[in-house]
Amino acid sequence: MAHQPLQIADICLPHNVILAPMSGITDKPFRAMVRAWGGGLVVSEMIASHAFLQNVWIELQKLKGAAQDEAPLSIQIAGWDPLMMAEAAKLAELSGAQIVDINMGCPAKKVTNRLSGSALMQDERAVAEICRAVVGAVSVPVTLKMRLGWDDAHKNAPVIAKIAENEGIKLLAVHGRTRTQMYKGEADWACIAQTVDAVDVPVCANGDITSLEDASQAMVQSGAAGLLVGRGAMGRPWLIGKIADHISGQAVRKDPTHEQKIDTMRAHTDAVLTLVGTTGLRGLRKHFAAYCDYLPQSDELRSALLKSVEGDEVFEALSAYQSIITDGEAA
Ligand SMILES: Cc1cc2nc3c(=O)[nH]c(=O)nc-3n(C[C@H](O)[C@H](O)[C@H](O)COP(=O)(O)O)c2cc1C
Repeated sequence: MAHQPLQIADICLPHNVILAPMSGITDKPFRAMVRAWGGGLVVSEMIASHAFLQNVWIELQKLKGAAQDEAPLSIQIAGWDPLMMAEAAKLAELSGAQIVDINMGCPAKKVTNRLSGSALMQDERAVAEICRAVVGAVSVPVTLKMRLGWDDAHKNAPVIAKIAENEGIKLLAVHGRTRTQMYKGEADWACIAQTVDAVDVPVCANGDITSLEDASQAMVQSGAAGLLVGRGAMGRPWLIGKIADHISGQAVRKDPTHEQKIDTMRAHTDAVLTLVGTTGLRGLRKHFAAYCDYLPQSDELRSALLKSVEGDEVFEALSAYQSIITDGEAA
């Protein structure tokens, strides 16, 4: 069955696959690569609302460069205090977010210890208060990302979804794991169907979608209106566009050539150097490693990139690899 593009309040997205928020990964340069390869909506790294009061500068760095030129951009906020969340949402809107996303899915201890992230799913009253405060603070639509629940005995995503919808949340994303699962086991796409059935707003399924076949299965089993793809897009910023083609019933665009992949790595590096400078190369290493996973005979390239501390070293390593490919050795 062909699926329609997602609509979030009055924002009509180009398709129904969204780049999932990933701390330390979905920064502006990576979001730009995903968009260049046909990604639609992208979600920023999460911004910790309490940190605005404690360490404003570090949190603001994550928003650096987020602006209208990124449209459509969703900025994700995390926290436990409705007033602080409301302030963070206002800042996100001022920074250019067309959508604000509330994090109720993060399992990290530093987040859950203060009853934020996925721990909030244990306190339904707090969910309502936070949603109400954030929705009331901004003029852009607000969405919410969560898990199936805290553990197998408390899979309350459908209840949380209904509360959120009643408070004005316009789209929900559900990672098909509980908090206690962390990232273990497999995402349960079928279980997301209960949340889809509980609300009228669109629900997106998330977790372990790394291929076109996974995407079809996740759509069928969950009955969701769309998908969120995270780790599968690392090293493959073109995957989201391909999945969108596939589930909308269109001809699926081809994988990029090796040359195009190398050009993407150059553009990604350029974007990081422009935004952050050479210190940003360290953060690029996980992306480099992921890109190399999808390139043949890339061991030397990988080790050169993971050692690089200057932009020139990166570009030289890419050119050396490119000459191997164009000579046909790695084809
Ligand atoms: C490195 C990393 C960072 C993440 N950071 C966030 C985050 O900031 N906010 C959030 O809601 N989820 C975060 N997640 C969870 C992802 O958005 C997603 O729900 C999860 O990875 C499952 O989807 P996937 O299998 O497509 O990656 C993170 C996941 C990873 C691997």
